[in-house]
Amino acid sequence: MMIQVRVASRATVAQDIVRLDLVALDGAPLPPFTAGAHIDLMLPNGLVRQYSLSNDPARREHYRVAVLRDPASRGGSAVVHEALGEGATLTIGPPRNLFALDEDGDDFVLLAGGVGITPILSMAHRLAALGKPFALHYCARDAARAAFLDEAGALFPAQLQRHFDAAPETRLDLDQALANPSSRRHLYVCGPRGFMDFVVAGARARGWTEAQIHQESFAAASLEAGAQPFSLRIASTGQLIAVGPDQTAAQALEAAGVFVPLSCEQGVCGTCLTPVLEGQPDHRDLFQTDEEKAANTQFTPCCSRARSPVLVLDL
Ligand code: FES
Repeated sequence: MMIQVRVASRATVAQDIVRLDLVALDGAPLPPFTAGAHIDLMLPNGLVRQYSLSNDPARREHYRVAVLRDPASRGGSAVVHEALGEGATLTIGPPRNLFALDEDGDDFVLLAGGVGITPILSMAHRLAALGKPFALHYCARDAARAAFLDEAGALFPAQLQRHFDAAPETRLDLDQALANPSSRRHLYVCGPRGFMDFVVAGARARGWTEAQIHQESFAAASLEAGAQPFSLRIASTGQLIAVGPDQTAAQALEAAGVFVPLSCEQGVCGTCLTPVLEGQPDHRDLFQTDEEKAANTQFTPCCSRARSPVLVLDL
């Protein structure tokens, strides 16, 4: 169910980062969310982009997102910065959580890199409400690029540790941050890919298990080495389209002149969801639930493939 919202408040909260507070157009409380959740923003130029919610999950009068202007933006973050001022209205998807807190844990290490602070801040709110011990490590190039730094310091003064590249004496010390990987400790990391890889490799090397390591996973792998070829049949025309090992199903469809709407191209937004009549998809998206995937009645051609030689599409 899509939700119509309005930008109730907007502020620049760090260099190149704007914060938007979104409220329901009808003023009603927004659907509940859990710490680590994100929403899809349907942007004015037709793109769909995912942004984590940073606010306290106990508060439902608004959803708060922070958006870093990416110089390599294909029209996502740039549109947010240029077109979504206070009063702008837009459609969003309901909150979804691919980065949920294991609330049974005893102790937590939260690690944020740059704008990756957004879901981490929501988790800090939740852990504080639960009375669970946690450490919050916030890494950024410098304080000017660290969104919500003052807020985090005011709310979580005992837990927040600041690490700035510009001040080498504050640099993150993984030996200190990731000490004592006892089985009921959990690590949550969100930030640029390189930062997450660095932290996760450091955690594994220090004895943290996969079950204890949680990372934001927006970017589903779209293509991988050794992908198998398969074919797509268009039910309405009988057209048979080969999908090579080095192309996605969406690319093969487009090359054959079959239109499929695309947005994220990462298996996150669901824009490309296509009905399947026969055959077994190899689902690689993060959009469908496990039950929906098991039903095998639709698949996401931007990233998913096939386990059977042919998929028949209801197109
Ligand atoms: S384009 Fe977003 S899931 Fe395929």
